[in-house]
Amino acid sequence: MTSSVRPLVAGNWKMNGLAASLAEARRVRDALSKSGPADVMICPPATLIAELAREAANSPLLIGAQDCHAAASGAHTGDISAEMLKDAGARAVIVGHSERRSDHGERSSDVRRKAEAVHRAGLTAIVCIGETAGERRAELTLSVVGRQLAASLPDAANAGNTVIAYEPVWAIGTGLTPTAADVAAVHKFLRGALVARFGGTGGAMRILYGGSVKPDNARELMAVPDVNGALVGGASLKANDFLGIIAAYGA
Ligand code: PGA
Repeated sequence: MTSSVRPLVAGNWKMNGLAASLAEARRVRDALSKSGPADVMICPPATLIAELAREAANSPLLIGAQDCHAAASGAHTGDISAEMLKDAGARAVIVGHSERRSDHGERSSDVRRKAEAVHRAGLTAIVCIGETAGERRAELTLSVVGRQLAASLPDAANAGNTVIAYEPVWAIGTGLTPTAADVAAVHKFLRGALVARFGGTGGAMRILYGGSVKPDNARELMAVPDVNGALVGGASLKANDFLGIIAAYGA
């Protein structure tokens, strides 16, 4: 069912990157071939989207954004709408990242509204979910991610406009990763929930794993059933590391 899903390797630069950092993105762009076995995306800070989108035009490298406001425009100083991100050249927007949930108190209902905004703009929502260390210790992982998934996804989600990213909070930026068996259990559970709610298109929705993905663990993590790619933070900032992860797909 999911073996035909084309994987996505997306780099989340977070609040990192100045104009000089575009050199790393150019190196990624220049190493990709059109017939590569995975889609590859970089989500730079908003300040770099337009320039990077111009430089990546007519190349296989896709450009995404990090977060957006739920409204299309209006009196929201400092915020950016999904329509603006599309206008700048983004094809996707990460919503519900655990750093947004913890730094800005975003709840799954907020994430759902943002995902709806992403869809309204005609872009792909990359919807992040994941449990904390305490929730995993208390064996609440599946109930937590199940709740987040249900409440964060709009009813209009489908395999074309939505990507799920399972990112255990305790694995982000720590160098810790769950075992392949633990990742398999969560992704199988998420797949079941997606199929139950969305039917066939839920079976084709990409479910990425994120949290300390590195070149040396990518192959094992990406081989797990129902892992359809990676959301990569720290290791996406350097072209060599990011390309090492993409190489897990034989690109
Ligand atoms: P990391 O971040 O790869 O640095 O752990 C992943 C993420 O937050 O998307």
